[in-house]
Amino acid sequence: MYTLGIETSCDDTSLALVNEKGQVRLLKKWTADEDHIPFGGIVPERASRNHLKSLTPLLKKLLDEAGISFDQVNAIAVTNRPGLLGSLIVGVVSAQTLSLVYNKPLIAINHLEGHMYSPWLIDEGAEPLVETLVFPQVCLIVSGGHTQIVYMKKLGDYEILGSTRDDAVGEALDKFSNVIGLGFPGGPKVDSYAQKGDPKTYDFPRPMIKEEGYSFSFSGLKAAGARLVEKRPQPLEEEDLENLCASYLEAAVDVLVVKLKRALLDYKPKVFSVVGGVSANSRLRKRLQELSEESGVEFRMPLKKYCADNGAMIALAGALRFQQQKTNDLEVKVSARSLPEDFS
Ligand code: KG4
Ligand code: ZN
Repeated sequence: MYTLGIETSCDDTSLALVNEKGQVRLLKKWTADEDHIPFGGIVPERASRNHLKSLTPLLKKLLDEAGISFDQVNAIAVTNRPGLLGSLIVGVVSAQTLSLVYNKPLIAINHLEGHMYSPWLIDEGAEPLVETLVFPQVCLIVSGGHTQIVYMKKLGDYEILGSTRDDAVGEALDKFSNVIGLGFPGGPKVDSYAQKGDPKTYDFPRPMIKEEGYSFSFSGLKAAGARLVEKRPQPLEEEDLENLCASYLEAAVDVLVVKLKRALLDYKPKVFSVVGGVSANSRLRKRLQELSEESGVEFRMPLKKYCADNGAMIALAGALRFQQQKTNDLEVKVSARSLPEDFS
């Protein structure tokens, strides 16, 4: 049996079928990036209208290509927070309708909880990893909107140890990419240039690295990046771009690694993980692998295709909740933000 996952919290519509072992039968995504380019960012109103147009045809494609009917679907999992309200509503109303029509339980998933289980997603033929899904865990969530360390006590019981006080790390990478003229998509561009550069070329600030606790701040790094680039002769040369990217990324990664290391020492989890769009970053992945070797704590990260927002992570979180009979009634509410009960 498969759980259907529906993710519409931002601009991309994504649907997937995943079983309780984390095996992804099929993942489908409709990407709206180009639709927003003329506006220089996501327009919430356009995003919700795009979901409305794309969701039903995408669902038909998913079921047809997977050769799956609703008889083989055990539950419908949908993101209901946090995110853009209009976008969330389209996903939730669609899930409610399908739940009612096909008489399948509905499961509401916090988008961040979805990310937290993404390291356990595997391809259909691959060896399941769910036996290694043990608690407690420490999870570093790094995306365009979030940077936080979460202590996962058990399924559905999470505590935020620290968050960013201003910008998310993904936002800092995206902005830097714009400043140096690499443009969109920022994170992946900075990633590939950084691989060829020398991280010691520029000494960017590492905000809050020495402060106690697990909070982050990336606005100072962002400002320092812009200030430094302003003073360089334009256009920047290829080698300079590589060195700038490597140095800037290293500063961000250093802070993430130091705070995570502290959380491992203080909370002694059985496993730690990194999730979210920025978890696709090669340098961060390498540094965290080294942290695992150094600390002896098991480390998990998602396959690169499951780092960014996707319906498969929502389906897996739903499948795990379904196994524990933690389903919702039809009255699922949407919210732009997480609620206090999501993270104790
Ligand atoms: O999780 P996500 O797809 O969307 C949300 O923000 O929820 O994350 C998007 C972020 C963007 O800031 C993007 O630049 C960043 O993830 N990103 C990366 C890489 N791929 C995506 N950042 C660094 N290196 C990458 N390879
Ligand atoms: Zn996300």
